[in-house]
Amino acid sequence: MTSPIRTAVVTGGGHGIGRALCRRLHEDGVTAVVVDIDAAAAKTVASSLDGHAFALDASAEIAVKDLIEKVEAEIGAIDLFVSNAGVGFGDGEEGAASKGGGIRSTDDRWDACWRVNVMAHVYAARYLLPRMIARGGGYIASVASAAGLLSQIDDAAYSATKHAAVAFAESLAITHGEQGINVSVVCPQAVATRMIGIEDDSVSTGGGFGGNDVDGILSAKQVADCIVDGIYEKTFLILPHPQVVNYVQRKASDRDRWITGMQRFRRRIGG
Ligand SMILES: NC(=O)c1ccc[n+]([C@@H]2O[C@H](COP(=O)([O-])OP(=O)(O)OC[C@H]3O[C@@H](n4cnc5c(N)ncnc54)[C@H](O)[C@@H]3O)[C@@H](O)[C@H]2O)c1
Repeated sequence: MTSPIRTAVVTGGGHGIGRALCRRLHEDGVTAVVVDIDAAAAKTVASSLDGHAFALDASAEIAVKDLIEKVEAEIGAIDLFVSNAGVGFGDGEEGAASKGGGIRSTDDRWDACWRVNVMAHVYAARYLLPRMIARGGGYIASVASAAGLLSQIDDAAYSATKHAAVAFAESLAITHGEQGINVSVVCPQAVATRMIGIEDDSVSTGGGFGGNDVDGILSAKQVADCIVDGIYEKTFLILPHPQVVNYVQRKASDRDRWITGMQRFRRRIGG
């Protein structure tokens, strides 16, 4: 299809959902700007799509400011910016508030989740909004997670920061929607990417998260198609796994019951 978007920036575009998103946008005739902390991956994706690669940390404010200025000066006005880069590390050995364990110290993990899963979105919006508003509109999207509506078992920092990402997207839409800014936030459950230990992002399965029989794992391509279609329809909350709506409704209607159910689920998956 012919896209109304001419130039799109995707952070975390070197792998997984971001890479699939760049591919789908390219198929639709969009100029893809692939941004990733992994310089080689960004370059590989961009060169396969006739796009542009930028190696940077999406949570570094000045680097994001420079990126936006450079893209707009040299490539074109950014019609769509997708803050997709994200990180998660899991709780330490002592659980949700634990101090040690894992590959990083706990405060480090919280800090990294906060910076990449939330502040990266704030910095992108901070430098895009004045430009987009001045030209009458633009699209800002972010990839949060179903963990931002429900919870990620055994990853408190991921859950808390993904909730913050959803709340930030809501604030953007409420504050700037009437200035022509469209906002979407994407909340998938499991997607076949390196984040859940799957290198081949073309696979999808009817099975479930961690081999459990829950809702299935979507391919990165399925999720990218869902995101782009949602953006064309200007949908605020994009849910690649539609059953998440029911879970959110159940959580809202009886939180105690929902917590008990999550405890049971955590036991079942060996958490
Ligand atoms: N895979 C899942 O099951 C799943 C489910 C829900 C939400 N998500 C979210 O989807 C998004 C994409 O993750 P994915 O599953 O494709 O994982 P992925 O690990 O395949 O891709 C993440 C990409 O982000 C890049 N990145 C990480 N930190 C960065 C930084 N500071 N600056 C720039 N780039 C950075 C990585 O190099 C990588 O290319 C994340 O926000 C993740 O939280 C993933």
